[in-house]
Amino acid sequence: MSGPLVLAIETSCDETGIALVEGGRAVHANVVASQVALHAPAGGIVPEVAARAHLRWILPVLDEAWTAAGVGWHDVDAVAVTRGPGLAGSLLVGINVAKTLAWVHDVPLVGVNHLEGHIYAAWLKDALQDLPDPSFPLVALVVSGGHTFLAEMRDHLSYRLLGATVDDAAGEAFDKVGRLLGLPYPGGPAIQRAAEGAVARDARFPRAWLGDSFDFSFSGLKTASRRTIDARRADARLVPGEPLPEPLTAELAWGFQDSVVDVLVTKTIRAARDTGARSIVLGGGVAANAALRARLAGEAEALGVPLIVPRPGLCTDNGAMIGAAGARRFEAGERAGPDLEARPSLQLASP
Ligand code: KG4
Ligand code: ZN
Repeated sequence: MSGPLVLAIETSCDETGIALVEGGRAVHANVVASQVALHAPAGGIVPEVAARAHLRWILPVLDEAWTAAGVGWHDVDAVAVTRGPGLAGSLLVGINVAKTLAWVHDVPLVGVNHLEGHIYAAWLKDALQDLPDPSFPLVALVVSGGHTFLAEMRDHLSYRLLGATVDDAAGEAFDKVGRLLGLPYPGGPAIQRAAEGAVARDARFPRAWLGDSFDFSFSGLKTASRRTIDARRADARLVPGEPLPEPLTAELAWGFQDSVVDVLVTKTIRAARDTGARSIVLGGGVAANAALRARLAGEAEALGVPLIVPRPGLCTDNGAMIGAAGARRFEAGERAGPDLEARPSLQLASP
């Protein structure tokens, strides 16, 4: 493996991630400090708590990554950092550390879009993952806590948005319905686990197809879930605060997940067919979902288009994915100046 060695920093949301990645592919170190336990009592991310936790953990995470990689500053070609989208206070911590490191060690700084990072995770290779590189043109489905979209790429760093959520992100829907079901935060992995134990698989939730468009909508599903959960609670004569019986939780979790997966997979396969894609890439935290991975793998195989999905630990937020995208930007000649700003609402294709 060759190519630039990039030190990459990700602090856009609730994971403090630092990685050393060579050539946009080879992961030499990838350390992630997750704040999930910190936010669990509130049932969601508290922005100021997240920013303070990044401030507390970023240097210990840097130390650990540095030690694991066994490299020195003379080996590092660039520092890459997430510049958006994300929580402003969280982004500022990573950007400030990245700027300082780049300035002190006199290495170039590169700003990376968090969303393209989720796509570029598909190029990463480490001890646990050795996938073939995606080929262009490709269709990428990114499903995370804050974003859900389908994009086409005909070359590196070139994105055409095919569709996006018009309301909630898929991960947000998982988290909200998880709460309605009385499951722990974050709802995504908890719903997956509950659904895996479902014996009855009859619960049917609506699908928002939105005609022929590649857009998504999950807020109606959330409302329908609330209505169904309330109705089932009434049927079972549960008093407020009394937890749902486990088999019922499992069946409803399964029904909700089945609806989300059905819409995501159907639209992705249609997008791949319509654009003549030579590969399909799946990324973002919800891409860790086993039901989504299995169903998309089956349908992609039937279509004859290779599906590239990073292992779950590289689907959720991490520094390595920023290193993968950062290397491409570095090789394309991009350099950020000391005026690099945090862009909380950055879009996939914005400058
Ligand atoms: O990409 P990510 O780590 O952070 C953002 O950029 O938002 O995604 C976090 C989201 C959360 O909503 C979480 O519930 C969801 O990913 N998630 C899952 C699974 N693991 C994480 N959703 C469904 N199934 C999973 N196994
Ligand atoms: Zn993310």
